[in-house]
Amino acid sequence: MRFDRPVMNASGCGGTGRELGDLGVLDAMGAFVTRSITLDPRTGSPAPRIAETPSGLVHAVGLQNPGLEQFLIRELPWLASRRTRTYVSVAGSSLGEYADLGRRLGRAPGITGIEVNVSVPDGPAMGLFDTREPFQAARALAAVRGGLPPGLPVFAKLGPDSLRIVETARAVAEAGADGVVLVNAAPALMPDGSPGGLSGPAIRPLSLRCVHDVHRELPELTIIGAGGILDTDDARAFLAAGASAVQIGTALLHDPTTAARIAADLQGDPA
Ligand SMILES: Cc1cc2nc3c(=O)[nH]c(=O)nc-3n(C[C@H](O)[C@H](O)[C@H](O)COP(=O)(O)O)c2cc1C
Repeated sequence: MRFDRPVMNASGCGGTGRELGDLGVLDAMGAFVTRSITLDPRTGSPAPRIAETPSGLVHAVGLQNPGLEQFLIRELPWLASRRTRTYVSVAGSSLGEYADLGRRLGRAPGITGIEVNVSVPDGPAMGLFDTREPFQAARALAAVRGGLPPGLPVFAKLGPDSLRIVETARAVAEAGADGVVLVNAAPALMPDGSPGGLSGPAIRPLSLRCVHDVHRELPELTIIGAGGILDTDDARAFLAAGASAVQIGTALLHDPTTAARIAADLQGDPA
């Protein structure tokens, strides 16, 4: 898969788009990725949800989102009316829920692709389907894929488990993924002892290793790289390691124009 503008936001770091739209940076990215949408609304975790670390942050948002129904009624039409290329990230509490999400999003207009989040840190403790084993991640992916029209791209978002990343990428590819997003936040601990995810530059070398290894073993598989990308040189390192596009997460929380600036810089690079 080729991306004309190979830069997007990472899921959860741009809400459902309006915030980035208000700042005028939505259209400058190649595509927008929604926060993970679940079938039912989720109010998320109590504050504090974010703690700074020496090289990034630990977060525990708890997958706050309006639920599929409200997303389809309120958020997606807004994105579609602006002709935003939109990837919808989904997470489910059961295989049936993943299938339902796929079926209903597959009928909705204005979607460029689906990102299946099979790597929520501490997902099972949050009531999500347990996708820690590669074959379970593959089942979740297949459940979503089954409801989508042929030709609508579906990506699996994997965690930074560098020891099993190739095995998991292979499993989801065999289950019908057009590509993988590497990687989600790493399981970590908030200062108050509650579970969270570590993002930002601290995980960049881990993420790069995942991209490198998956590209080496599965060179035909499309990879979108994410994890600690702060500037254009970081993005170029991911593209050189085998990614076809990159996502920017934590950096957007410091400076929401980061992804747009990287996209503009990369336009000048030779193809
Ligand atoms: C505040 C916050 C919320 C996030 N929410 C989601 C989410 O809803 N779904 C998801 O797949 N990833 C989520 N992530 C993970 C990011 O999409 C990304 O994979 C990870 O943070 C690594 O990229 P980064 O270092 O550029 O932030 C979230 C990250 C942060 C910092």
